Amino acid sequence: MRIIVAKYAGCCFGVKRAISMAEKALLKNPLPVYTIGPLVHNPQLVQKLFEKGLIPVECVSGLQKGTVVIRSHGVSPDILEKLKDYCVVDATCPHVAKAQRAAKEFQEQGYQVVIIGDRNHPEVVGLNGWAHNQAIIVGTLIEASGIKHADKIGVVAQTTFDQLKYNHLLSILKEKTTDLRVSKTICDATQLRQAAVRELAVQVDILIVVGGFQSSNTQKLYAIGKEAGIDVYQVEQAEDLVLAWFSNKKRAGVAAGASTPDWIIEEVVRKMNEFSGEKQLEDSGMTVAAGEFAPENADVHENKTPAEDKDVHEFNLGESMKSIRKGDILKGTVIQINTDEVLVDIGGKSEGVIPLGELSNRPAAEPHQLVRIGDTIEVYVLRLENEEGHPVLSKKRADRKNAWEKIEDARHKNMEINAPVVEVVKGGLLVDVGINGFVPASLIERGYVENLENYLGKVLRLKVIELDRSKNKVILSQKAILDEEYERRKADTWNALEKGQVYRGQVRRLTNFGAFIDIGGVDGLLHVSEMSWGRIDHPRSVMTEGQEIDVIVLGVDRGAGKVSLGRKQLLANPWSTADEKYIVGSIFQGKVLRIAPFGAFVELESGIEGLVHISQLADRHVAKTEDVVSVGQIIPVKVLSVDLENQRISLSLREAIGSQNQETKDEPDEAIETKQVKLGDIFAKELGELMDGKDED
Ligand code: F3S
Repeated sequence: MRIIVAKYAGCCFGVKRAISMAEKALLKNPLPVYTIGPLVHNPQLVQKLFEKGLIPVECVSGLQKGTVVIRSHGVSPDILEKLKDYCVVDATCPHVAKAQRAAKEFQEQGYQVVIIGDRNHPEVVGLNGWAHNQAIIVGTLIEASGIKHADKIGVVAQTTFDQLKYNHLLSILKEKTTDLRVSKTICDATQLRQAAVRELAVQVDILIVVGGFQSSNTQKLYAIGKEAGIDVYQVEQAEDLVLAWFSNKKRAGVAAGASTPDWIIEEVVRKMNEFSGEKQLEDSGMTVAAGEFAPENADVHENKTPAEDKDVHEFNLGESMKSIRKGDILKGTVIQINTDEVLVDIGGKSEGVIPLGELSNRPAAEPHQLVRIGDTIEVYVLRLENEEGHPVLSKKRADRKNAWEKIEDARHKNMEINAPVVEVVKGGLLVDVGINGFVPASLIERGYVENLENYLGKVLRLKVIELDRSKNKVILSQKAILDEEYERRKADTWNALEKGQVYRGQVRRLTNFGAFIDIGGVDGLLHVSEMSWGRIDHPRSVMTEGQEIDVIVLGVDRGAGKVSLGRKQLLANPWSTADEKYIVGSIFQGKVLRIAPFGAFVELESGIEGLVHISQLADRHVAKTEDVVSVGQIIPVKVLSVDLENQRISLSLREAIGSQNQETKDEPDEAIETKQVKLGDIFAKELGELMDGKDED
């Protein structure tokens, strides 16, 4: 007897996923672990999971604290609310979740929600919950015909509902409203299994359907076999097979519902082989769909889905049909993020799947680090369908393709692009421009860069200076942008430069005679004599390199490319109020700045200095100034005269000391001042003569 296994048989994507999530929960989550209702419609599998610790319960009430696994059928929002204090592992099949979202959206937008399905099926009960339990549920033509006319009807379907019957029901519903919205929620997995049974039924004279007696999709497979007029038997496990069924049978088919695990199918096939009396499976011609399951000794044929035999796959995008091809780049919305894959709604009946490795160029332990639910992303179509009918997508390749287009465009248009630094490598930095780009160390800044590590994580402004797509090579430069900007600023500054303008500049370099100040691409000289009203020994005593200061343009020589700057002109001139502050006869403390044969120069404040003539140093005859004072000494001085116009003040040490002595003798102040003024007049004259000649000293 030849045994042929249907091209699509056994656990669907949603059930496999739910089993895997439950098994992980048993290992990692708080115990006990429950499911509300059996995890799958397969008693053998339920028993196996029970032995591992998964406890099916009828309802939420009475659960002890622990973990609850939501099975692939999903549940209503009410149940989720009741479970808010539990650790919940939501294994709702993404297709079912899509139907739930559609029911909710229709309800919120004022549509009368109609669910096509079996009203007692847990998935339909849950779906109704998402429509606030106000949906009309139709499973028969009579029920559909009985619906009253409504302004707006929104239709969702039980994911495992029969497609043909669905089409009939939908045509009736179209007559019930002028505004019909339909969310196509019937799952391909069911259809693929049903189509595979129809195909198989014409090749065999007995069909064994493997699956739980409570499984509606398994029952449907049974019915399809019956419609073909062949002998059909349903079994839950190998022990249910009866030898007599196979007498005189030459070709036997095996089909299995979407909740039947691979190991049960393998056991059934093995037992049938024993019945057939044939020793080797290879003689049996058993055919197993690649990727679905591969029992020992089975021939594994390369089976393609009907869609994969074509290059083009039809997708329903909204109301219109759109074709997608391998290599297309589409926009999609992230609807679910699992540990090893991300599901994306690209508008088709089945969500696309992005395997973890196809998410990004950058390594990431968790897909959550790369995308979030609700993100709109671009995806590249790798395959039109996997074994479960889902398009297989790659975000990484879409990003790469887009990145190259962006880079080429940027190069073509000489445009700036921004990219974060992701790695420091020998001789430069790697930046993420959708692909890895290289920025040589010499092209990062206008000057030398000491520590490349400082750039990690920073976003650079870049220009593409070299690219070779065939070698996956992109060289970029930030310096190119900075140079351009510098030259542009320089030209603008030169064009606008006028004497008397004030600039905020940056001290670039200090010298003994002054400082070079960058006033926008142009370096002007601020001579030390123009820095302050006071005397400055060295520019570094008043400013540092890198400091920002205000300067005024004193002169522009465009021919020589020279600009002279001043700073003190922007500061208050202490001489403007010197006569109010330094009243003749008053005494101040001053610092001896310089000494000369004719006296000592004493600083009263920065920018104001006066002369103590040698004759005013002491009451006695003074041969040398340095006999009385020394540079740096702080001495009392009396103001003898103030000449604002020539910025001269004459001072007296002798009188300051005399006044202090007289004060101690309680001499009337008025008399002292009179004497001081007279002396001031005499010395002012002499001081003027001396100061006129001081440059020669
Ligand atoms: Fe999901 Fe379809 Fe299976 S809806 S649970 S993949 S039959």
